[in-house]
Amino acid sequence: MREVIVQTSTEYAVLIGRGLLEQAGAEIAKRIRPCKAAVITDSTVAELYAEKVEKSLQKAGFSCCRFVFPAGEGSKNIHTLSEMLEFLAEEEMTRQDIIVALGGGVVGDMAGFGAAVYQRGIRFVQIPTTFLAAVDSSVGGKTAIDLKAGKNMAGAFYQPHLVLCDVETMQTLPRKYFADGIAETLKYGVIGDAKLFAQAASGKFCENLEGIIETCVKMKRDIVVEDEFDTGRRQLLNLGHTLGHAIEKRSDFTITHGHAVAIGLYLIAKAAEQRGIAQAGLAGQIKEALEQNGLPTETAYTAEEIMAGILRDKKRRGGEIVFVFPVKIGYCELISIPVEDVQKLVEEVLEKKVEPI
Ligand code: NAD
Ligand code: GLY
Repeated sequence: MREVIVQTSTEYAVLIGRGLLEQAGAEIAKRIRPCKAAVITDSTVAELYAEKVEKSLQKAGFSCCRFVFPAGEGSKNIHTLSEMLEFLAEEEMTRQDIIVALGGGVVGDMAGFGAAVYQRGIRFVQIPTTFLAAVDSSVGGKTAIDLKAGKNMAGAFYQPHLVLCDVETMQTLPRKYFADGIAETLKYGVIGDAKLFAQAASGKFCENLEGIIETCVKMKRDIVVEDEFDTGRRQLLNLGHTLGHAIEKRSDFTITHGHAVAIGLYLIAKAAEQRGIAQAGLAGQIKEALEQNGLPTETAYTAEEIMAGILRDKKRRGGEIVFVFPVKIGYCELISIPVEDVQKLVEEVLEKKVEPI
């Protein structure tokens, strides 16, 4: 088993290994005195893994209750949050109790935000079951729900007390969702690790899944410890996300987060090259790595449609938007662009003009 310690406002361990679902109760009990545990999960993951986790918790002395919501990004909203909070109250959960988020990034974001606001904050444990949640969303304490206006528009920075990543859960993950995690892994490679990029680009994951997860978690840990509240260097983790979020939202979430990030990653690399920020050939290198892993690089949406999403993005700061531009594989820069120029950037990368309003 691998262990990464994250020293943020709450210090916690990320455990990565095999068979961790069976050991969940024992591992949690080492850090949190047995109490009541609310397992928050989605309809797909509940069928696969909820019983195993609950049995393990009960064996370690926890009592359990379970809240299940329909799988998918469409559930990451205020209605599910409201139902979840009412459920916690009906179950008479107190601040001595815990939430266990069992699932992908949607479950982690939802349950984490619920944990942040229920009784002004109760402890929670992340048990990621998707590759994306393992390499990215379960670590770092960003929790959120979507609003009609955009992705992750309401949320909190709220760190978990423990992250338990059982890589055996990836065996049941459909290929399409596994690819979502590859997109985020390639993102980490472009931000700061050329070796990781090459490894992910080759598509050889099975050989070293735990090692790849550990590398991403350590990179995220180092960035988050320096900038927990996303005012500086953490913004690098948004590489590909400004365009990606706009595409994901415009598709009404029929395009998954990871697939949208893949498109955003390629487009921003293309923009960086067009502006002379990136080394020549970088966009092609990223395109090849994405395509090798079955990820998309193109969008049918117009520049107007993407611009509408970008203007609502929470990364907007007044009249400017901070973009993460890749310079070369393993190095990126944060550059603020005035909103008027963002339109030009989107037109250039899509090679389509935005019609004047
Ligand atoms: P997801 O949670 O929707 O999971 C994808 C699908 O896989 C779902 O249908 C789920 O039921 C199913 N699934 C989960 N685990 C499974 C397993 N082991 N076997 C079979 N099926 C399984 O999507 P995701 O890609 O994990 O997460 C995307 C979300 O994460 C987005 O909402 C995104 O905004 C968020 N995110 C958050 C952060 C953060 O830092 N908080 C970072 C990146 C992404
Ligand atoms: N996934 C972006 C972040 O955690 O900051």
